[in-house]
Amino acid sequence: MTFDDVSLLVRWDDDSDVAFALGGRGADWYDWRAELVRDVPWRELLIVEEDDRPIGFLQLTDAHEEETHYWGDIEPGTWALDIWIGSPEDRGRGLGAQAMNAALRRAFVEHGAEMVVIDPAFDNHRAIAFYERLGFERVGVRKFGNDECLVMRLLQIPID
Ligand SMILES: CC(C)(COP(=O)(O)OP(=O)(O)OC[C@H]1O[C@@H](n2cnc3c(N)ncnc32)[C@H](O)[C@@H]1OP(=O)(O)O)[C@@H](O)C(=O)NCCC(=O)NCCS
Repeated sequence: MTFDDVSLLVRWDDDSDVAFALGGRGADWYDWRAELVRDVPWRELLIVEEDDRPIGFLQLTDAHEEETHYWGDIEPGTWALDIWIGSPEDRGRGLGAQAMNAALRRAFVEHGAEMVVIDPAFDNHRAIAFYERLGFERVGVRKFGNDECLVMRLLQIPID
């Protein structure tokens, strides 16, 4: 992700499904310009592309090392993923699954993750089904701030 992509995040925030999934906070996730000039070893901010066209956002975070300790007391070797595909016409075509598989390979192989966790809103049933198809299992509902989320985890890279 670069500075040029910030306007895309703002545009994708207007999409009703993205807004529902993120509580309307995609573009406000960070002070992007401040974050993009930082180089921290515990996070990657990525743009998902189809044939060089940006279609979504993906974040990999070392949940144990991340500075705000969003995930609380969590084991070393745990990485967290966040993903959204910005426009309805780009969803439901298998692109999210491809991006997730690439991100999972990156987490387990390149970062040596022992577990990957995600936290969809507890009522984002389509996203939860999507993660289950990728092999994630349900851990339980947990409140992060005002958001009630279903924590899900994956212990090994899915077999292609
Ligand atoms: C969830 C998401 C990343 C999946 O990517 P995708 O490219 O649409 O997914 P694929 O084409 O690989 O797989 C299709 C499945 O994704 C899920 N999905 C599709 N559209 C979705 C949407 N608008 N919202 C949530 N999940 C969706 C469904 O499980 C779907 O299967 P179904 O058609 O049988 O219901 C993407 O749809 C998305 O960003 N949705 C909106 C925001 C969101 O919910 N992000 C996840 C936050 S935890």
